[in-house]
Amino acid sequence: MEFLKDIALPQSAEHIQLLHYMLILILFLFIPFISAVFGGTVLSVYYKKKEKIDLDENCRKFSQDIVELVTINKNVGFILGLVPLLTAILIFSQLFQSSENSNLIYLGISFILFVIAFNFVYDYRNSFKYLGNVDLNSGKIGIVFLFFALWFFSAGMSVAVFYDHWKPEGIISSLFSSIVIIRFLFLLVSAFAITGGAILFGLFYLDGGKGKLDKNYGEFAKAKALKITFTATIILPLLFFANLIIIPGTSLSGGVFAYIIIGLFLLFLAYNFLYVIFARFSTKFTALLFFSLLFMVLTIIISDQLVISNSTKVSSAILAVQYDEILADLKGEGGPVELNGEEIYQVRCAACHKFDVKLVGPPHNEVVPKYFGKEKELIAYIRNPSKIDPNYPPMPNPGLKPNEVKAVVDYVLSRVKENMNK
Ligand code: HEC
Repeated sequence: MEFLKDIALPQSAEHIQLLHYMLILILFLFIPFISAVFGGTVLSVYYKKKEKIDLDENCRKFSQDIVELVTINKNVGFILGLVPLLTAILIFSQLFQSSENSNLIYLGISFILFVIAFNFVYDYRNSFKYLGNVDLNSGKIGIVFLFFALWFFSAGMSVAVFYDHWKPEGIISSLFSSIVIIRFLFLLVSAFAITGGAILFGLFYLDGGKGKLDKNYGEFAKAKALKITFTATIILPLLFFANLIIIPGTSLSGGVFAYIIIGLFLLFLAYNFLYVIFARFSTKFTALLFFSLLFMVLTIIISDQLVISNSTKVSSAILAVQYDEILADLKGEGGPVELNGEEIYQVRCAACHKFDVKLVGPPHNEVVPKYFGKEKELIAYIRNPSKIDPNYPPMPNPGLKPNEVKAVVDYVLSRVKENMNK
């Protein structure tokens, strides 16, 4: 994955924000689609096999309907399934460029597995055209590859979300860490919830409603899809909490909680819609059910993204500083530096510090007074920062020349003294 580092450029703070938004959008396309492809293929293969045992024509029809519904068609499959993942890999390589990260390795492997899986799944889907000769094996192989692709995908996302706290234990043993397993289970169970919702929505709403399905088959499909969705959504709250418990405290923020609560609320709405569909069938509610599940997934994606941006703040700030330097060079402002402490401060420190409020680093008005009369110590700290306050990440070395450090320290000390005398 070294080549990704070569194409990665430092990004300005605004670009980094934009990359986070793009990730949300991309994952919002990718995760529901890939979930439905996985859940749908599993169910389709299951009912295809069941047909042989029960000799029930409904099973065959259901099996075909499901796989045709969730995989849409091969082109859409590649556009929704592979392009977003590739883009996500490129975005992560920008976000994490300043540090080594196994996230890209996992996502890269999952991409390859998805490519293979898609080929089998679409072979399986297309084999339904040749009546009586469905290629069940392709379906099964596709499921196995999808399973592992999703697993590696969960691992890659876990590394990103737990960026600060990730203790690499080797590529394989990390796959079995509780974090990865919990997030993987979450993905699998929500995959079945989404698939169930998609089947109800697709068969009863999109395809022109129940009128088009014959009554017997309609009842069959409705009952099965309801059961699948209900079982999955009943398990989900458990995994919501497990997922919350494993998020490290330092990465939690009010926003993360807010989205998790919205997610649970949407799940609660989904229960109500399920009940309405069950009690007195209405096609409109299949759409509401599907969208509440879809947006529930969106809340998870957003809260993940918030955790990621919380935990990559420092590396993002470094990128932003490097970006400013490159920009200054490009503009021809990178010549011999006039040693103005304030200017150096604006470029090298202001991304993380303010005098009165906490940014990435502590407010200077709080931490600098202890250096009054000890300028040398502060200079030493800036030249080679050591870990001080456990509530903050360590400060990276700003890489200033000795005379620049002196200028910036003079500036900081005099500003803080001024602030104290106010
Ligand atoms: C990438 C972000 C970042 C940049 C850039 C940065 N700092 Fe920091 N700074 C931090 C963090 C985080 C801490 C808290 C470290 C700790 O407590 O271990 C910190 C702590 C400090 C402290 C407090 C040390 C103490 O004894 O408590 C001072 C003073 C300081 N920085 C000054 C500067 C100056 C001056 C610059 C510019 C040359 C600068 N910082 C650039 C993130 C940054």
